[in-house]
Amino acid sequence: MKPTAKISCRNLWKIFGPDPEAFLARHNGAPRSEDFRTAGMVGAVCDVSFDVFPGEILIVMGLSGSGKSTLIRAISRLNDPTAGNVLIDGQDLLKASPEELVDLRRHKMGMVFQHFGLLPHRTVLSNVAFPLEVRGSPREERESRAMEMLKLVGLEGRETHFPRELSGGQQQRVGIARSLAVGPDIWFLDEPFSALDPLIRREMQDEFLRLQKMLKKTIVFITHDFEEAVRLSDRIGIMKEGRLVQLATPEEMISRPADDYVRQFTKNAPRDRIVSVGSIASAEVAGSAGDAIPASLKIGEVAARVLASDRPIAVVDSDGQTIGSVSRDRMIAAMFPESRP
Ligand SMILES: Nc1ncnc2c1ncn2[C@@H]1O[C@H](COP(=O)(O)OP(=O)(O)O)[C@@H](O)[C@H]1O
Ligand SMILES: [Mg+2]
Repeated sequence: MKPTAKISCRNLWKIFGPDPEAFLARHNGAPRSEDFRTAGMVGAVCDVSFDVFPGEILIVMGLSGSGKSTLIRAISRLNDPTAGNVLIDGQDLLKASPEELVDLRRHKMGMVFQHFGLLPHRTVLSNVAFPLEVRGSPREERESRAMEMLKLVGLEGRETHFPRELSGGQQQRVGIARSLAVGPDIWFLDEPFSALDPLIRREMQDEFLRLQKMLKKTIVFITHDFEEAVRLSDRIGIMKEGRLVQLATPEEMISRPADDYVRQFTKNAPRDRIVSVGSIASAEVAGSAGDAIPASLKIGEVAARVLASDRPIAVVDSDGQTIGSVSRDRMIAAMFPESRP
């Protein structure tokens, strides 16, 4: 049985412009892109539906202006959606009272932003303790919790520094520690590493995965870098002009991009490390089971063998049953899709 979703969005709309509700009603709840242009309205989030399951990392991608930030702001109710539903643990956020909303944001959700958003005149410790201060925790309690979070992100010893005394990567670690201070089970990250140098960025991705292994939060993470998305995601959602055009695992997305816009994102993906042999095998049974390749291996792991073989090689499932075969031609087509005749 599928687990209950932690976050559920149903037909979510966020429209900017005068009287967005009336605009939506005038178009029977389903305006098209032309309708927005004609009326001079902005469809920042258009009819978006998806679930995020407990402990899952959902990556949201899309060009600048495609509605990624607006989407997570609508889910966390930093803005009011124009229409639709957002369920958190089955509770309808749009029906929550202002008090319930504040409570939810202060206890259940953590946010990390691209430009860190630290308070410049407060120390590192005080920045991390800030959400707890807002919540009214006593000083001793919030500072000890903040220390704990700083240890978690490897910033022990920096607590009395000010943000400007830290590198970009360290400042974002403070941002991460702060977002975790309230012990949220939902974690929103809006391009958290986009302002960092590639090497630091890579280090922060590893750090993020290390934390998640321990903390097992439910995560919506925005990036515009497909390689980052592949490294971090369970599933990736791609947005275009406010709409979610595809939501799939990296492998599904690369193997079957919904349209050219998605294909463009996946173009430079490290296919050899993402696509599995099973997904490129033909149903034709060929080769001897003795030399068979497990379907779950990534194509990069067996490319040399397949390319060196004159005949197709058998592919087997996890029970050792032959499910088909993979030929040299198939391998080349999978690794170099641009070379297709
Ligand atoms: N407060 C606002 N008022 C009017 N338009 C906005 C507002 N916030 C965002 N938009 C518009 O909504 C669209 C989506 O923006 P955004 O969610 O920030 O995109 P992304 O995060 O993908 O770059 C853009 O066209 C943007 O200009
Ligand atoms: Mg954004």
